[in-house]
Amino acid sequence: MTTKMAINAKELFRNQHRLIRIIEQSIRMCSNQSLNAAQQQKLQQQKPQLDTDFKITKSIASKLITAAPEPIVHDEEVGQQFSASSLSVRLAMPQQLQPKPDIDDELGFGKLFTDHMLKIYYHKSLGGWQKPEITPLENLVMHPAAKVLHYAVELFEGMKAYRGVDGKIRIFRPDMNMHRMNLAAKRSGLPTFEGEEFIKCLCRLLSIDSEWVPHTEAASLYIRPTLIGIDPTLGVAASDSALLYTILSPVGSYFKSDSTGAVSLLADPSYTRAWPGGAGNRKMGSNYAPTINVQKEASRKGLQQVLWLYGDDHQLTEVGTMNIFMLFVNEKGEKELRTPPLNGLILPGITRDSILALARQWGQFKVTEDIFTMPDIKHLLNEGRLLELFGTGTACVVSPINRISYLGEDLYIPTMEQEKPIHETIRETLMDIQYGKVEHPWAVTID
Ligand SMILES: Cc1ncc(COP(=O)(O)O)c(C=O)c1O
Repeated sequence: MTTKMAINAKELFRNQHRLIRIIEQSIRMCSNQSLNAAQQQKLQQQKPQLDTDFKITKSIASKLITAAPEPIVHDEEVGQQFSASSLSVRLAMPQQLQPKPDIDDELGFGKLFTDHMLKIYYHKSLGGWQKPEITPLENLVMHPAAKVLHYAVELFEGMKAYRGVDGKIRIFRPDMNMHRMNLAAKRSGLPTFEGEEFIKCLCRLLSIDSEWVPHTEAASLYIRPTLIGIDPTLGVAASDSALLYTILSPVGSYFKSDSTGAVSLLADPSYTRAWPGGAGNRKMGSNYAPTINVQKEASRKGLQQVLWLYGDDHQLTEVGTMNIFMLFVNEKGEKELRTPPLNGLILPGITRDSILALARQWGQFKVTEDIFTMPDIKHLLNEGRLLELFGTGTACVVSPINRISYLGEDLYIPTMEQEKPIHETIRETLMDIQYGKVEHPWAVTID
C-alpha cells in the first residue's frame, strides 16, 4: 500500500462513525415514517373504543393541568449565575466515540454512557458559577479531601429523553426536576442555580448525543444531573466549590419483575428510609447508600423491592425508589386513589405529581393524599376492598405490586387481577405524552 492510500484508509476509518450515523439516520427516518403510519392506523382502530369506554387519553391533550413550580430564590452569597449563552463545546475525537448498543432490550440500567457530558463549575472565590462546557465523557479529577468524598455532599436528579413516534426527542417536565434539585442544593449548603439556563445547556448536550436516544418505546435515554461539593477541606461546612455535571445513559427497564410484570416486596418495620426533619424528601446520594443492604436482603428472600415503612403504625411511605399508590373501595363504597402526603418522609416524585393531576382531571374516582398503614392494607384485603397497589417513578413509570412479605405473612395483592387496571391506563397516558403520541405541555421537545 502506498503512503497516500494508507492516509486515505486512515481518514476513512476515522470518519466511519459519521458515515454510519448518516446511514443509521436514513434507515431510522424510513422506519419512523412506517412506525408513525402504523401508529396512526392503530389509533384509528382504537378510536371507537376510547370514545365509548374510558375517555382518559383524549382528555389530556389540551389543558395545562398543573402550574409550574415556584421560582427558586438564590441566596445573595451564591454570587453570579451561569448562562447558556456562554456554553462552550469540545467534541469527542472520532476515536473516542463509543459504539451505540444494537439491541435495546439488553441495555439494563445505567451501564452504558454517551460520548459527551455537561460540566459547570462553581467557585465562590471566582464570583460564583463559571461558564458551562460540554466535553467528551471523561473522568473527574478532585482533591482527596473533596467534601463529596467525606460527607456525601451530593445530590442528583433522574430524568429521561424519549424518542417520540414522530422521531422528535422530548423531555418530561424538566422544570420540576430543576426545582427539586435546587431544593436539595439548599438543604446541602450547595449553590443554587437557574434551572432554565441548565435546561438550555442540557438540550444542547442532548442534541449532540441525540443518536444515543433509543429508537424504541421500550427504552429511553436516562439523564443524570449531579451536583457535588468539591471544596478540598475537611471541615463539615458549606462547600465553596462545586461541580454541576450531567451524564447520559441509554436505558431499558429498571426493575426486575415476575412473568406477570408485577413486583413482590419486603416490608420490614425494623428499617426506615426517612424520618421527620430528615432529608428523605430530597434526592441526595446519602439517602440511597443505606438502602442497598436492605434491598440485598429482599433479593436473598426472593423478593424484588423494599417497601419502606415508618412509625409504630407501619405507615407505607415509598417502594424501592418509587412513590406508592393504592386504589381501593372506601367506607362509602367509592373508588379512591390514595398516595401518602408530602409530609417530609417521601420524595416529591414528578410522576406522583403528574398522576395526581391527571387523576383529578379525569374525575373518575376520589383522589387523596393521606397516610395508610400495613394494618389498613390487611383490613382492606380481608374485606376484598383493596384493588391495586403500585409504585411510580421516572425509571419505570408504573410498577404494579402483587405480594408483600410482612411480619412472617405473605399478603397477596390483586393488582394484576383487575379487569381494567388503573395503573395500566396511567402508564399508557404518561407514555403517550412522553413519546409524543399526544401533544401536551409537559413534554418539551428538543430542537
Ligand atoms: C426515593 C424515590 N422516591 C420516588 C421517586 C420517583 O420520583 P420521580 O417520579 O420524580 O422519578 C424516586 C425517583 O427518583 C426516588 O428516588
